[in-house]
Amino acid sequence: MRDGAVRERTPARRAAAPWHADPYVRALHAGRGPLFLRRADGWMLPLDVERWCADADAADRTVLRRCQGPILDIGCGPGRLVAALALHGRPCLGIDVSQAAVARTVRAGGPALCRSVFEPLPGEGRWGTALLIDGNIGIGGDPRALLARVAHLMAPDGLLIAEAAPADVDERVRVRVDDGRGDAGTAFPWARVGVRALLRHARAVGWSPVEQWTARDRGFVSLRHTPPPPRSATER
Ligand SMILES: C[S@@+](CC[C@H](N)C(=O)[O-])C[C@H]1O[C@@H](n2cnc3c(N)ncnc32)[C@H](O)[C@@H]1O
Repeated sequence: MRDGAVRERTPARRAAAPWHADPYVRALHAGRGPLFLRRADGWMLPLDVERWCADADAADRTVLRRCQGPILDIGCGPGRLVAALALHGRPCLGIDVSQAAVARTVRAGGPALCRSVFEPLPGEGRWGTALLIDGNIGIGGDPRALLARVAHLMAPDGLLIAEAAPADVDERVRVRVDDGRGDAGTAFPWARVGVRALLRHARAVGWSPVEQWTARDRGFVSLRHTPPPPRSATER
């Protein structure tokens, strides 16, 4: 394990982090759900904990074989993607705010840090690929802010691979992690975007689509960031 790979948070920060809610920690320990993101109006989005805790599958491998350079898996969860990358000797790092997720990732053989994508990260400006898989474009509840942050993390020719929601949606919501049996965490902002909305938000902050594909009913896009043109003398 790398030094500090599973880092203790202060109690105050742990209490503030919604993915530290007991239902998520319990589901990761058990390796299964049921687990949902629940909106205040009662709508529930099922979370595929069993798939996250299994080995990378055929759809995941369509993502992994497109990766280039050092790979940052943002919101790595229990770490099936970084474990698969590490197994093949690929330089990679998973980051996640959930200590239980990071511990599981490290046990599975993937390097991981307990860190938010919005905190300072190792290798900023040098990552060859960033992954936002399993709905993680929803992290923070503002896809443009997340995409702008990810642009900052990437090497100049870096590739972002993001998974879109299966439906044609563009929504920002407040949700709780909920086990469907009465145990729920604190509310936090989340977003769900289908391919069209994902591409619209991405273009707005300087990302250009490279490729779009589906595998096992999951939709993915890859993008590269276009740096803004240099300011002309008259603009300065
Ligand atoms: C929808 S789950 C995705 C699971 C994961 N991709 C996997 O392979 O199992 C979202 C994950 O993002 C993590 N997360 C939420 N906010 C985050 C943030 N600001 N920075 C990093 N990870 C975050 C959660 O703890 C959770 O593990």
